[in-house]
Formats: sequence, structure tokens, C-alpha cells
Amino acid sequence: MSDNLTLPAQQGSTGASTETLLKVEGLTKHFPIYGGFPIKRKVGAVQAVDNVDLTVGVGESVGLVGESGCGKSTTGRLITRLLEPTGGKIEYAGQDITHAKRKQLAPVRSEIQMIFQDPYSSLNPRQTVGTIIKSPMEVNGINPAGGREKRVRELLELVGLNPEHYNRFPHEFSGGQRQRIGVARALALNPKLIVADEPVSALDVSIQAQVVNLLQKVQEELGIAFLFIAHDLAVVRHFSQRVAVMYLGKVVEVGDRDSLYNRPRHPYTHALLSAVPEVAMDDEPQDRERIRLYGDVPSPISPPSGCRFRTRCWKAQDKCATEEPPLVQLSDSRDGHLTACHFPEEPTVGARSEAVVMDPALKALEKDGGVSKG
Ligand SMILES: Nc1ncnc2c1ncn2[C@@H]1O[C@H](COP(=O)(O)OP(=O)(O)O)[C@@H](O)[C@H]1O
Ligand code: SF4
Ligand SMILES: [Mg+2]
Repeated sequence: MSDNLTLPAQQGSTGASTETLLKVEGLTKHFPIYGGFPIKRKVGAVQAVDNVDLTVGVGESVGLVGESGCGKSTTGRLITRLLEPTGGKIEYAGQDITHAKRKQLAPVRSEIQMIFQDPYSSLNPRQTVGTIIKSPMEVNGINPAGGREKRVRELLELVGLNPEHYNRFPHEFSGGQRQRIGVARALALNPKLIVADEPVSALDVSIQAQVVNLLQKVQEELGIAFLFIAHDLAVVRHFSQRVAVMYLGKVVEVGDRDSLYNRPRHPYTHALLSAVPEVAMDDEPQDRERIRLYGDVPSPISPPSGCRFRTRCWKAQDKCATEEPPLVQLSDSRDGHLTACHFPEEPTVGARSEAVVMDPALKALEKDGGVSKG
């Protein structure tokens, strides 16, 4: 079992090539909302993903992070073509798959796999583990040398499960083991890209690291590229060479791991980082300020004008309401570190003397002594 693997404090470069495997441009998904009686018509749309640009290199692991509801799963489902995009372009290995039909998509489908958040609902309880892992091979007509059963046993071993458990049912496994089954199923077709949608969020903290380790092993040893979705910056830090931060359907900051974690330029990234206790590393300022991210993410049905983060941003000014900040490389940012903000953080984020409260309304309340600090 690979259970005794430990998380390295920081993963070194895995030598992932810079060749682009996945390229997403202007990716947009608006879910229509229908209303009216007796004739239903479109009355609005949930702007779940809006104009997202993203790349994943061959063998590279990219993290996609943001609060619940910001459009991470929708992005993952668009990329794996489980959802049809409203706009934009998805290119996989140089091929435009944005609106590819079933037949055109078939060879690509096997190369792009998804691991889901919930290891309970994503496995059919009435099928044996062998059947679950074997079925993608059957659907795609793949006959590995030595037969499918042999391949399944190899995969079980690879993910740290006992190959003898081939005929067991999902309920006979723990949550972490079920997620390993999900990983084995995703590996059955030798994918080149795995979209892992919060693969450890539903697991006990004590076993999250084991599953992250397994995925890291898969990425490094099999050279599989990952889009690793998480709401927690701590999880992706160990796993991703590059990280993109999403807010309300938009990518607000993207950069290589060290640059993003040590020199966040977007106030939202800064706030997310300050909320994560584990990120205090030797190589970063120990006196990072604490920012408390109050309030809810606004509704994606009518997102704020200009910068979507402005209703929670303590730095917001008039310009933020009228002009959407473009995602660009700022002066003093490292190559490839892009930020969408009119008034970004300094490249060396220093300590503030007091905590910054990110919700202006709560800030006012705190001043009046109406909300206890803590
Ligand atoms: N099928 C759907 N129909 C309508 N709205 C949806 C659908 N799927 C997701 N949404 C909405 O899109 C937004 C983004 O959702 P999601 O991508 O699941 O976010 P995340 O994974 O970051 O939590 C949310 O407001 C969610 O309610
Ligand atoms: S553009 Fe304005 S509101 Fe948006 S993050 Fe930057 S300072 Fe804050
Ligand atoms: Mg999600």
C-alpha cells in the first residue's frame, strides 16, 4: 500500500514539458433561467463560467482554486465535454474539441478522464470493483495484453488496493479506498489528462494526504497531466506546478506555484492565502497579515459590474465598478504570473498592523463594536 507515503513540504519541478496539451480560450458557460406562464421564456442566466483562459502542459499539474460556487466544477465539466460551452474554445492536443460531436470526440474522451468529489455516489453500488474499473475498457473496445481482468488487477495494485478484492463491492471499502477505485477507473484508458474535481474534499483529513500522494505518484510516474480542482489552496500547493484562482466565474490570478503563493498580487488570492494556516513556509514572510474573508460570493445571475470581486474587496475604488480589470502580467511579477486587478498588492506583501476585514459592511459594524473580532 502507498498509505505510508508522506506529503513532501514542497514538490520540486517534475520536469513537465512546456508543450501545451490543453488550451482553453474565452471559455464561457451561462445556464439559462426560464420563467413566465403560460409560455416559458428565458428570463436570465447563471453566468457560471465567463471568459476563462487556461492552459495545461503535457504532464503538468495545474490547480484550480476558489470558493464554492465560483465555477470550478463547471469548468471541469466543460473541459471533459460533459457540458456544452456557451462560448469560447477548447483545444486538446492541437485539436479543436469545443463542439466536437460524439464520434469525433471518442478518441479524445479516453484521453481525458475525470475523478469526482464524492467517492460514494460516483461508484455504482451494485457493480463489483472489477466491473467498475473494467467498464471504460469495454465501452471503448480496449483489450489490453493479458486481458482486461489482468489489467484491472494491475490497476488495483497501482492505486494501493489488494488485487484480490476484484470481486468486492464499493460498500466494502472505506472512503479513501473508494476514491482509489475512482483513480483506478480513471487510469483504465491510459489518459493523458485527468480533471480531478475536489478529489479529497469528501474524505477525512487524515486520509486526504494519502490520496493526494497517490495522485502525485500517478502524475509523476505516469506523466499524466492534471487539472486539480480544490477550494483549498493548501491542498493544491503540494500538487500543482501552476495554480489558477477563480472568483465568480473568472480566473482572477494565475501563476507558477512559488510566485503565486509567495507573491500574490490579487487581493482575493492574498485573502485566500491568509486564511490557510498551513501555508506558512520557510521561504515566505512569516508575518503575513491575516485577512478575514467575510460575506458571501454574490450571485452569478447578476454579478457586480467591473471587477466581480469589488463588493468584498477592501481596496475597491470607483474604477473597479466601471472597468473590468484584464488578466495581465504586472510589472514586478514573474513571467507567466497574471493578475486581474486595477490596484494590485505590492510584489512583496508586507505585514499590516491589524487584520483587514474584507467585507465593507462588516468593517463598519466592527468599528461600531457590533461584531466581535476573533
Ligand atoms: N446545471 C446547472 N444549472 C444551473 N446552474 C448551475 C448548474 N450547474 C452549476 N450551476 C451554477 O453555476 C455556478 C457555478 O457552479 P460550480 O461550477 O458547481 O461551482 P464550484 O464547483 O466552484 O462550487 C453556481 O452558481 C451553480 O449554482
Ligand atoms: S480591481 Fe479593484 S475591486 Fe477588483 S480586486 Fe482589484 S482593487 Fe479589488
Ligand atoms: Mg464543485
